[in-house]
Amino acid sequence: MFEKKIYIQRREQLKKSLQSGVVLLLGNGEAPVNYAGNDYSFRQDSSFIYYVGLNTPDLVYVLDIDGDKEYLLGDEYSIDDIIWMGNLPSLKDRAAEVGIETTLPSAQLPTLISGTRKIHYTKQYRYRNLLLLSELLNKQPKKVNNDFSVELTRAIIAMRLIKSPEELKELEEAGRIGYAMHIIAMKMCQPGVSEQEIAGIIEGLAISQGPRVSFPTILSQNGQTLHNHDHSGILESGRLMLCDAGAENQNLYASDFTRTTAVGGRYSQKQKDIHNIVLKALNDSIAMAKPGITYQSVHRNAYKILFEGLRDLGLMKGDTEEALNAGAPALFMPHGLGHALGLDVHDMENLGETLVGYDDETQRDTRFGYGSLRFGKRLEPGQVLTVEPGIYFIPQLIKKWKAEKINTNFIRFDLLEDYYSFGGIRLEDDIVITPTGCRPVYEKRLPVTVEEIEQTVSDR
Ligand code: GLY
Repeated sequence: MFEKKIYIQRREQLKKSLQSGVVLLLGNGEAPVNYAGNDYSFRQDSSFIYYVGLNTPDLVYVLDIDGDKEYLLGDEYSIDDIIWMGNLPSLKDRAAEVGIETTLPSAQLPTLISGTRKIHYTKQYRYRNLLLLSELLNKQPKKVNNDFSVELTRAIIAMRLIKSPEELKELEEAGRIGYAMHIIAMKMCQPGVSEQEIAGIIEGLAISQGPRVSFPTILSQNGQTLHNHDHSGILESGRLMLCDAGAENQNLYASDFTRTTAVGGRYSQKQKDIHNIVLKALNDSIAMAKPGITYQSVHRNAYKILFEGLRDLGLMKGDTEEALNAGAPALFMPHGLGHALGLDVHDMENLGETLVGYDDETQRDTRFGYGSLRFGKRLEPGQVLTVEPGIYFIPQLIKKWKAEKINTNFIRFDLLEDYYSFGGIRLEDDIVITPTGCRPVYEKRLPVTVEEIEQTVSDR
């Protein structure tokens, strides 16, 4: 938790950015795994933690803008809670820690927000909170999310997108844990080791230093499947292990890195060639990222590097601008170059990906591949982003494009059969935009060149 004054300032700023009405921020409750009381590890809602700072379940924050009053609603712990969970602070004490004076029992929420004033709330992603709002506002659950407050959502996004110095320290700490996870994964990347064992050990490291991983670990020799959570493989010589993983730190900030390691620590020439194209796309994207540039243009430039690299290898052909306009490189990288990172690994995605990543000036380009970019707008100091180019050989997609004669002017389909068992390579770093360019969120960069990764695997 930060100092009390930070939460007070954030709520003041939020209040100033809205004209009138009542803001309702719902904290999260426990989520049962298989019965109430046997719960997933508790995860507070990120906007709630940002404004209210309290990492305990079943709290609601209400800001009455017209009446200039704020409330924390919750219920006191019962004697049973104390018997099972220990001595817990009162609601009043918890509210005082974050500068909120007035507390109320949660049963008073309907009365507090009754009347005809506008109730500002964000889109809900947990069914429990959706049902609570449905009941409170007397709306069908489906309608609740249609009627969210765009004004509140925009105000939250504007504040959360620009990270303060104290938030950057938290992100750095999450980066430190993520870094350690990846070094272990690289060192374990030996023939005969199971993907499950590596995933389990690095997730264990995350849990030993923070509450959890920032997203389910992606670790597989089948790196061509972009979000592959199947860890059932045994590492084989000659293959690549793609590891996309990160941690949350104690204050819930996230890291997200990807490296692709040759099993046994020796890349073949074919693997080196593809790795080096992806590395150039990563390094050039980082060099290009600075205030005033749209991330959409950085994404397009990454496609240009992939195209030119694959053309040099003979796998693509034709004119660069024509190929980019036709979206041909998307065959090899059907995802976006990166996303905002913060309290969520895809920061604020629950508030609406397009509201976070686009604006009136920069609209989403809906073409295949370009359209997957989560964050396209102009960069500003304090934004934190991932940079994650990749090249994947997805046999089903290649066969589909070939059969449908898509981009035949730019793709050497005849040569791609040799790559059907290649897998995929993704490299991902986390950056913060500075006044003049960008810098890594965590000062140490993971081994990233072929030589550095080979050395890391062999230094055991
Ligand atoms: N690193 C996982 C993701 O961006 O979805």
